[in-house]
Amino acid sequence: MKPYSPDEFSKTLWTAEQIQQRVRELSEQIRADYAEMEGEDAIVAVGLMRGAMPFMADLGRYMDIAMEYDLCWLSSYVNSDRPGEIELVQDVRTELEGRHVLVVEDIVDTGHTLKFTNELFGSRNPASLRTCCLLDKKPRREVEVPVEYVGFTMEEDEFVIGYGLDYAGRYRNLPYIGVLHPRMYQK
Ligand code: IMP
Repeated sequence: MKPYSPDEFSKTLWTAEQIQQRVRELSEQIRADYAEMEGEDAIVAVGLMRGAMPFMADLGRYMDIAMEYDLCWLSSYVNSDRPGEIELVQDVRTELEGRHVLVVEDIVDTGHTLKFTNELFGSRNPASLRTCCLLDKKPRREVEVPVEYVGFTMEEDEFVIGYGLDYAGRYRNLPYIGVLHPRMYQK
């Protein structure tokens, strides 16, 4: 089995330390905001698979208020005749009515995924519905969606990998976020 090679990436955007620092700040902000909300219920964090895995795990670890985890599996029709269409592959198992729902996503790109989850979970009458994204890739937005918590904003349209983000299933386990070298997908 070969380790990743440094020439697979063109640059590092955020180191593991910078990511952990920012995730800790987000946790503190979320904790403070939810402390103001009605009820003593736990937050239901819904991670969008598979990219949200490390982010949601770390976000919860830095928080000392009750949080339940659930997962939702979506698929988008990329390069097809149905651009922007999202398919629900695996729904959450938690009953969301009356709950404080926090959708956790790795990156908001065109915005179609979060528009879909907002409609899907919003229709279940949650007590509140908010979104937390580690990255916001602004230049690629096609539909406007509210994102209450953002880790880092990208001004450039670059393909990023690491800390949950993949290319062809690889790189999710890297602790930092880098730009994939174009050579890797131009083969
Ligand atoms: P959206 O529906 O276009 O906002 O797409 C969001 C999804 O696209 C994310 O959950 C990622 O799976 C994927 N995605 C978008 N940009 C990148 C990237 O730069 N690297 C890895 N995955 C990405």
